[in-house]
Amino acid sequence: MDYRTLYRKSLENPQDFWAEAAADLVWTKPWERVLDDSDVPFYQWFTGGEINTCYNALDRHCEAGRSEQAALIYDSPVTGQVRTYSYAELTDEVAVFANVLQRHGVEKGDRVIVYMPMIPEAVIAMLACARIGAIHSVVFGGFAAKELAVRIVDASPRLVISASCGLEGQKVIPYLPLLDQALRLAEADDLTRILVSRPQLPIEELHPSAVLWEDAVADAQAVDCVPVSATDPLYILYTSGTTGEPKGVVRPNGGHAVALKWTMQHIYNVQPGDVYWAASDIGWVVGHSYIVYAPLLHGCTTILFEGKPIGTPDAGAFWRVIEQHKVKCLFTAPTAFRAIRREDPRGELLDRYDISSLKTLFLAGERCDPDTLHWSEEQLGVPVIDHWWQTESGWPMAANPMGIEQMEVKAGSPTVAVPGYDIRVLDDEGVEVPRGESGNIMVKLPLPPGNLPTLWGNQQRFYDAYLSRFEGYYLTGDAGVMDEQGYLWVMSRIDDVINVAGHRLSTGALEEALITNPNVAECAVIGVEDKLKGEMPLGFVVLNSGSTVDMDELKESLIQAVRSQVGAIATPRDIHVVARLPKTRSGKILRGTMRRIADGQEFKLPATIEDPEVLNEIAEILE
Ligand code: COA
Ligand code: AMP
Repeated sequence: MDYRTLYRKSLENPQDFWAEAAADLVWTKPWERVLDDSDVPFYQWFTGGEINTCYNALDRHCEAGRSEQAALIYDSPVTGQVRTYSYAELTDEVAVFANVLQRHGVEKGDRVIVYMPMIPEAVIAMLACARIGAIHSVVFGGFAAKELAVRIVDASPRLVISASCGLEGQKVIPYLPLLDQALRLAEADDLTRILVSRPQLPIEELHPSAVLWEDAVADAQAVDCVPVSATDPLYILYTSGTTGEPKGVVRPNGGHAVALKWTMQHIYNVQPGDVYWAASDIGWVVGHSYIVYAPLLHGCTTILFEGKPIGTPDAGAFWRVIEQHKVKCLFTAPTAFRAIRREDPRGELLDRYDISSLKTLFLAGERCDPDTLHWSEEQLGVPVIDHWWQTESGWPMAANPMGIEQMEVKAGSPTVAVPGYDIRVLDDEGVEVPRGESGNIMVKLPLPPGNLPTLWGNQQRFYDAYLSRFEGYYLTGDAGVMDEQGYLWVMSRIDDVINVAGHRLSTGALEEALITNPNVAECAVIGVEDKLKGEMPLGFVVLNSGSTVDMDELKESLIQAVRSQVGAIATPRDIHVVARLPKTRSGKILRGTMRRIADGQEFKLPATIEDPEVLNEIAEILE
């Protein structure tokens, strides 16, 4: 069936469409309703049904004859290790670790924080939670103690799983001081910790509430999967919003499994047995969906890569992995390709490898600039597909649906709405704009399966943040255009979320870090264009009157504050000390206008501006 017919079908009769997709999974109890609209605008999928995501990702493939097939390949250039887990081995490790969780009192519905580097134990921990119906919340290893603490407080976990260190190129990043600090901040010092002691930084002294992973699994026994309701949460993943306080995106078991499995064939065009590689981090949604769940639900081999596009050891790392493991489909962020291109613009390293197994490159996390897209196409000689999605959706909302129909690529556009997503572009009054005009990108409700049904413990915030803007629509937070051919162009955010090297950050969280400095009276952080990372944070601070500080020392301590409170990934490009911040008469800081000035774009003076002269001062500083 061609794309347009399938797309229409998905919107005209979502029940039949998704029931057909759901039949591809094993359910322990069939659903009573495919789409439950009894509490609009809060829709649920597959209510009454029972399923286990881990069973569908592992056990069922063993039962279907895939026991010996590689399920997970851990490829770690930073430790010089490659380790393959067959479906049988991974199932066994997960089933045993699930027992460890149970022995530590974790039950169905309990939360478990996973703060780990890119090691197999992280994947095993996630799947073990899924196996017993516990809810994991993975926190990206690059986040600092305060960010981790906020997540621990919100999720109120039964235990935490972590490791002694992460490896960033040549650097060893100790995790436990951060974890200890976070647990103290969260007033959860006695929470049980299960810790992986890595040879690069062996754990010498164990906290009284800590257990070593290897000791914990030594006498544990494999346990079976526990069926859960389709609507029960599989995980919580915190993401940045407009305020500094992260939002706990909830992922339901049933809809998630159905949608993710469907995408493997229809979007990524891979079949069971194929090797699929998402070069991302398990701490982000791409890692959850396309390192862990989707490839395993589909019976593929997935790759867990503990390395970087450059420097581990060089800009040929991706090509080496593709050749060595015969990767068919690669998924990463455009920033990774910009980094490779900067090191090896003529693709000389590529000539050393046979990447003929590769059929498609998918990019997401930020808009792929046409230049990077064309360079990647020329180098790889395969279709390069920009696709658009977000933590909240968990899977692509706009893409070139390679397994349905390969559409023409328009550089700069993530192509068309994916079946299930009724994407509309509305003006600020909620009226649909004509094709070709820009506006707020919204999705008409209901969202398809797998999308967030709520925010953890905060239905009101879910409603306020996403559903209240225009009745009957979900607010994506992105702005852009739908063209005459139905291609979507995602051009910017409408809120204070920025995207640094594919990592989503809230300027509010960075501002909270800057304001902790006793000399700072007021501050603003904006995202400015960056050739490598897409965007980088830029800070502006107003000092308390009478402050007599050394400017270099002040800048250094402000940058350190961001690194230690948010994380090194959020390191600002620079901090400027200004006399005043540009504001509207109601006191709102004009971040959007500052950003346009910083990026050298034209800007209009907002009618409500308090004092236009302040913008001139900012422009002079940025010159
Ligand atoms: N744990 C601890 N620290 C981390 C970390 C992690 N998981 N990830 C990044 N950091 C640190 C880095 O060590 C670095 O610290 P430093 O400032 O002390 O050197 C800082 O955060 C910034 O790191 P990064 O954003 O990775 O920048 P970089 O300049 O080191 O590398 C790229 C640039 C483009 C190579 C890199 O950002 C990259 O690989 N991006 C791809 C991102 C991606 O796959 N995103 C997934 C979304 S789909
Ligand atoms: P995250 O939740 O971290 O995945 O970030 C989601 C946000 O990243 C989206 O709302 C967009 O702002 C941006 N984004 C992701 N993919 C794309 C893309 N292909 N094109 C444009 N923006 C994107």
